[in-house]
Amino acid sequence: MLHDPNRIFIFDTTLRDGEQVPGSQLTTREKIVIAEALQSLGVDVIEAGFPISSPGDFKSVVELSKIIRDPIICALTRANKGDIDCAVEALKHARHPRIHTGIGASDMHIKYKFNSTREEIIERAVESVKYAKKFVEDIEFYAEDAGRADNAYLAQMIEAVIAAGATVVNIPDTNGYCLPEQYGSKILYLKENVKNIDQAIISVHCHNDLGLATANTIVGLQNGARQVECTINGIGERAGNTSLEEVVMILKTHKSLNLTNRINTKHIYELSGMVSRMMRMPVQANKAIVGKNAFAHSSGIHQDGVLKHRENYEIINPEDVGIDQSEIILTARSGRHALKHHLERLGYANDRLDLDQVYQRFLTMADAKKEIKDDDILFLMGVEAEVNYK
Ligand code: KIV
Ligand code: ZN
Repeated sequence: MLHDPNRIFIFDTTLRDGEQVPGSQLTTREKIVIAEALQSLGVDVIEAGFPISSPGDFKSVVELSKIIRDPIICALTRANKGDIDCAVEALKHARHPRIHTGIGASDMHIKYKFNSTREEIIERAVESVKYAKKFVEDIEFYAEDAGRADNAYLAQMIEAVIAAGATVVNIPDTNGYCLPEQYGSKILYLKENVKNIDQAIISVHCHNDLGLATANTIVGLQNGARQVECTINGIGERAGNTSLEEVVMILKTHKSLNLTNRINTKHIYELSGMVSRMMRMPVQANKAIVGKNAFAHSSGIHQDGVLKHRENYEIINPEDVGIDQSEIILTARSGRHALKHHLERLGYANDRLDLDQVYQRFLTMADAKKEIKDDDILFLMGVEAEVNYK
């Protein structure tokens, strides 16, 4: 392949897999706003929707294809001509169109979803890739439920679809089943056993049912995958998909992985808020990278450490994800150092105050109020002044 072997392609599926969250559907207008923000973020591929699924999704793919010029616009299909024809039509204005077609690869899916056989499923996979290739050059194939598929059979399927023209092969852990070690060895097995694997990019698409989506994604990359499928805030079916912000910040933090991408991380926080508001899905406070508490320090020991040197307790610079600075939250667990920091910030820098005395009053207030805000400190200092003037 011609591209840099250490370059990771970021495939964002917030608008397709992410939007499958119940009650979080987006209008075409909202999808355009998010897609423009994804384009500014620097994603390589935007999965715009599943055109056959509804007239609204079809329209969204059409409109995004007209407006988005830089990233590839991808449309999902099942492995049949009707779905593919519909996706071809929806993508006709796209500057860089991609069709993402596929079929189940696990025995579970082959038997209970398709009532078929391993051989027939490979035939259908090959036929749909060949059919899609007549219209669009860039074809991605997904082997659904690859996480639970037999590796030897999966390798056979992947080899056949690459021979049929697939340029990206997606190995989804559809049910979030794999342990990192299992998923990593699956990718490595494909690297080592699919003869034509160098003619395609391996893509990782992990679900978070066991909380392992990001770990599985990273181990997939360590074993040779070069495209990551992910969503903003990790939204998606059931427990969600791999979160874009986690993967990108892992790659930035662990330079030793020696993997690069095009994401401008400074837009991450803003985009996370936009997706959360538009999809009416609050971000959990302790969510890595974008949660309200991700850069908030509240215990005395941590606050003292971070005030002495930020990196004592921060492995990421908040500015890198678009957050001005981390927060020192005042609670009953805070120490004198944190209180002094806030007093100084509010202009009580060189007052002749008795810090110990203020701190005792602060603790009484903090026990009652849980979190102490600026107004509370001003009030506390007002009372303090009265006490001192008596
Ligand atoms: O999880 C999955 O298997 C999918 C495919 C349709 C790509 O979302
Ligand atoms: Zn998925």
